[in-house]
Amino acid sequence: MNLNENIIRHSEAVCNTALEIAGFIDKEAVAVNLSLVEAGSLLHDIGRCKVNSLAHGFIGGQIILSKCWAVELKRIAETHILGGLTEQEAVKLGLPPADYTPKTIEEKICCYADKLNLEAKRVSVDERFQVWVSKYGETPLIKEAYRRVKTIENELTKLSKKD
Ligand SMILES: [Fe+2]
Repeated sequence: MNLNENIIRHSEAVCNTALEIAGFIDKEAVAVNLSLVEAGSLLHDIGRCKVNSLAHGFIGGQIILSKCWAVELKRIAETHILGGLTEQEAVKLGLPPADYTPKTIEEKICCYADKLNLEAKRVSVDERFQVWVSKYGETPLIKEAYRRVKTIENELTKLSKKD
């Protein structure tokens, strides 16, 4: 699909991180579909073959839909933008009104793993957001996204195996 080579490298890095996180989750607490995490993380940025704006998540979902791939994969692409987009935020960005925040464990893992990779380099959530802040300033959208990603981080930490 002519996806840029650095996006492919990024997606592979996100996939490795996502599977690593999934491996830490306590299976007694929540069941994680590893195949979905793997495919979803590899496909999360597929929309970047068409656009590089924040619409690439939604566009990626449309590509996945056009391929008749699983609707769960469509949701992973749609919900990976920042810490997910609320309906109100989505409308402001010109997207069709819908809740694009990660809900399932697989959506949360893929969204979070994406925040831990700057291109193919493993970083912290703070380092990832620092790059956005230096590019776009501390906008309300970025501030809210940071809060949401930290909430996902806490949630995943709580679901991790204790030993
Ligand atoms: Fe992305």
